[in-house]
Amino acid sequence: MKLCIALDLPSKEENLQLAKNISGLSTDIWLKVGFRSYIRDGVKFVKELQNLGFKIFLDLKLYDIPNTMADASEEIAKMGVDMFNIHASAGRVAMKTIMDRLSKYKKRPLVLAVTVLTSFDEKNFEEIYELPIATKANEFAKMSYEEGLDGVVCSAYESLDIKEITNDSFITLTPGIRPFGEDRGDQKRVADIDFATKAKVNFIVVGRPIYKSGNPKKVVEKIIQKLKEKK
Ligand code: C5P
Repeated sequence: MKLCIALDLPSKEENLQLAKNISGLSTDIWLKVGFRSYIRDGVKFVKELQNLGFKIFLDLKLYDIPNTMADASEEIAKMGVDMFNIHASAGRVAMKTIMDRLSKYKKRPLVLAVTVLTSFDEKNFEEIYELPIATKANEFAKMSYEEGLDGVVCSAYESLDIKEITNDSFITLTPGIRPFGEDRGDQKRVADIDFATKAKVNFIVVGRPIYKSGNPKKVVEKIIQKLKEKK
């Protein structure tokens, strides 16, 4: 299981400071660049993080018509990031168009689909989809697998079922991780490292438990140590 840190701090300087602070700890830490920092700091910021030796997950959750999504995916591939995501609800045609378009790249990024946002609870989710979260998450995962995506973004609670209906090598990346049971914030379905390990999660995403702590470096060290023990 790998650690992916969400860089959601209020300024570029703070995000870079965090990245630099932990850059010596492990060669296997991924950084997640999301809306906030990408909108503000753009490609240049991504390059700076790459130059520090990190693998980058560009979390822009693309959602549009298939051709527009495929165009954007190509631009992302050209940036040289290692992983990005789309919303599974964009549908099968969008998935297929993206994967076809990326197939010409020798080294393409991993493509994940967001199944159900981890901030949803059953009541709010049902208002939109009229289905239980787990049912829809599994449907989205199956579709993503069938269309050749590399994996899905889901909650740790869905990971095991998704592996069963797809394949063990189909990636699950799970936000809403509170490594040692920290405060959940706005996340509804949170899990700790022990739970994620049992659920065969491939990537845990951790944001606030790291950057809101008094000592982010120490928390990252503790997480890495725990992940090593779980190997
Ligand atoms: O601070 P926290 O650990 O809750 O951060 C989780 C990160 O994962 C945030 O950047 C959030 O945008 C992202 N995310 C999520 N749920 C998803 C997909 C991404 O929380 N389904």
